[in-house]
Formats: sequence, C-alpha cells, structure tokens
Amino acid sequence: MILGIESSCDETAAAIVRGGRELVSSVVASQIATHSPYGGVVPELASREHLRNLVPVTRAALDKAGLTYADMDAIAVTNGPGLAGALLTGVSFAKSLAWALQKPLIAVNHIEGHIHAVLLEQHQKSAGAVEFPVLALVVSGGHTHLFLAEQRDDGWHYENIGHTRDDAAGEAFDKTAKLLGLGYPGGPIIDRISKLGDPKAVKFTFAQLKHEARRESKRAGRVEEDRKRFDFSYSGIKTAVLRYVETHEMFSAIEARRRALMKIAAPTEEDYKELCDRQTLDLIASFQAAVVGDLTQRTMSACEEYGVRTLLVTGGVAANSALRASFEQRGPLVGVKVHFPSRIMSTDNAAMIAAAAYSKWIARKFAGLDVAAEANLQLR
Ligand code: KG4
Ligand code: ZN
Repeated sequence: MILGIESSCDETAAAIVRGGRELVSSVVASQIATHSPYGGVVPELASREHLRNLVPVTRAALDKAGLTYADMDAIAVTNGPGLAGALLTGVSFAKSLAWALQKPLIAVNHIEGHIHAVLLEQHQKSAGAVEFPVLALVVSGGHTHLFLAEQRDDGWHYENIGHTRDDAAGEAFDKTAKLLGLGYPGGPIIDRISKLGDPKAVKFTFAQLKHEARRESKRAGRVEEDRKRFDFSYSGIKTAVLRYVETHEMFSAIEARRRALMKIAAPTEEDYKELCDRQTLDLIASFQAAVVGDLTQRTMSACEEYGVRTLLVTGGVAANSALRASFEQRGPLVGVKVHFPSRIMSTDNAAMIAAAAYSKWIARKFAGLDVAAEANLQLR
C-alpha cells in the first residue's frame, strides 16, 4: 500500500495505490483559480498553496480509503522535474512522514509518473501486459518527450530518443491562449473551441529539425549503435500566431475579449463563440491542428524507426480530443497499439506517482532522508 504525494507544479495531490495496480483513493487540489488572474503559474504562489494543501489533501486521500498512516507500507514523492519551490514542499512533507512513521521513502520522477498513469489504468482494465518495444510520448505543460521504456528485473528503464528543443507543447497551448485573450490554462479552452473553426484556414510550418543519430556513441571503448533522435520545437508556432495577430490587427479585439472573459466565472462554448470572430476561431483551430499534426507525425516516425508495438500517450496535453483522435487513427495503420490515460489521469495527480513507485518498492530502491528536490531531474 503506497501513499503517493505530488506537488511539482500547480496541483497538490495525494493518492493510495495497492500493489502498483489498484487505485484505492486519489485526491487532487487544483490551483487554477490562484494562477488564473496571472495567465500562468506563479511559482511562489504555487509553493504557498502546496504548503496549505498538503496535509488536508493527504488526510482526505486516507479518509476516502478508510485507512490511516499506519496502513501505508511506503511513502512515494515526486522529487523532480518541476518548480523547485513547489517540489521542495512535497519532498519535505514526504520525508517528514517517512521519518515520523518509520516507513521507506521512494523518490519518483514526475515524467515516469505520467507513463505509469497509463500502465495503472491498463492494469485496472485487466488489459494484460503491454507488448514491447514500448514508446511513451509525455506531452504536458513542462514536457514534450519521447522515451523508450523497458521493464527489467530491477524495475523500469528509460531511454530518451527525443524532446522539445524549446517550448513544451502544453506551453504553446497556454501561451497562445494567453496571447489571444482566452484565459488559463489554454489547452482545455483551445481544445473546446477548436471545433468551431476551420483547421485548414491558416497554414503553419514547423522547423525541419534534423533527426540526427547520436554523436556520443563511444562509451567504455565500445562503439554503440547510433540511434536516431526525434526532437520537437514549439516556440516557432507561438511566434507565428503573434505575427498573424499583428498583421491582421487583432489586438484591440483580443483585449476586449480578455476583459469580457475575466468577468465570467466559467465561460461556456456560447460565450467563446460570441467573443471570438470567425478569423480568431479559424486561427485557434489551425493552431491546434498544426501542433497535433506535428506531434503525431514525429511520434509515428519514431514508432516506425524503433519497431514500436505499444505507444503510451500521456501528460496534460494527452487530454486533447484532436490529439487522441489523431493517434487512434494513425496507430492501427502501422500496427501500433495506442493507449491514453483517462482525462483525469492525464493531468497531474499522485496515483501515477504511487503506481510508478511500486517497481522501486519491489527492487528495494529506497531514497534516503537526504533526497533532494531536483528541478531538472532527468529520467533514465
Ligand atoms: O501534466 P500537466 O497537468 O502538468 C505538467 O506536468 O505540465 O499538464 C498541464 C498542461 C497545460 O499546459 C494544459 O494547458 C495542458 O496540459 N492541457 C491540455 C488539455 N488539457 C490540459 N492541452 C491541450 N488540450 C487539452 N484538453
Ligand atoms: Zn505533469
């Protein structure tokens, strides 16, 4: 029975997972209302909110399960990557719990958590083991990564074969929504209103990134096989949207929309429809189609290159309906089984952290009480 704790960005979460495959309880406290007026996550405010929420959220997860701290076998916590201050609150809390309760502490990489969100739900559906090779596309507000995932006796191992060279895909959604006066977080809003516009109206092009083979191939005197990389880049499209807005003199309409939406607590599709003209709706739909098209095309090329049998698409942007539809259509054409987490498990939660901790529990890979929060923690 593992208690997971997550505080890497703007969600404070606690969850209990039994045996790495049975979700017992999960509680997420979102900070959207706190950060919304600023159009993005304010790191200092995030840390303060975590401090306020960690104890009640954890107690709520235990209460929901009808369990106590004493019933837990280990405490798992996200120790990176993420916002340094935000991570620190969760790591300090988890260390204190582990020390006070005399339970093992397990440090989990947030990205590994997102991958296990899918695997946990596969177990819950009794869907059977996934077929290898497994590729994971982790696509969120902070990450756009491709990892080959392998399960060995001592747990899971990962090889990064691609990442974004600048902005993450979710970041592009959020920044574009902010630029167009649509509110925060941008991903779900753009997802909802993209169907109102023409996705082919505005043409966006992506940089032709070279998919180079790795250079650092000489290790331990042995020449390793060169592996192709599949990198992404999403800062260009954000600039292209800005150019479009400038060229078409859309700024005053954007400002009017921003002010109008600020006065509405929970804008509906009708509100957006009323506040966005055709040109804006077409721009939004075209932006989403371009990002989804690029993510799909690069990921499917990687699947072909590595003979992938199972693709896991996870992270906040995996909640996007167009992205799901695109992968669901392309995967079967090349014999790749595609799995997504449910929408609720796509965004940050602690169930994925408790689930990812299980193989470390089995392999007795425990963290010491000196474990640090690492904003740039790498996944291997
Ligand atoms: O995984 P997550 O909760 O936090 C990070 O680890 O970053 O992902 C949050 C990101 C935000 O950028 C948000 O705009 C995006 O996921 N997102 C979406 C959707 N839902 C959340 N992007 C596109 N479409 C969605 N439906
Ligand atoms: Zn995340």
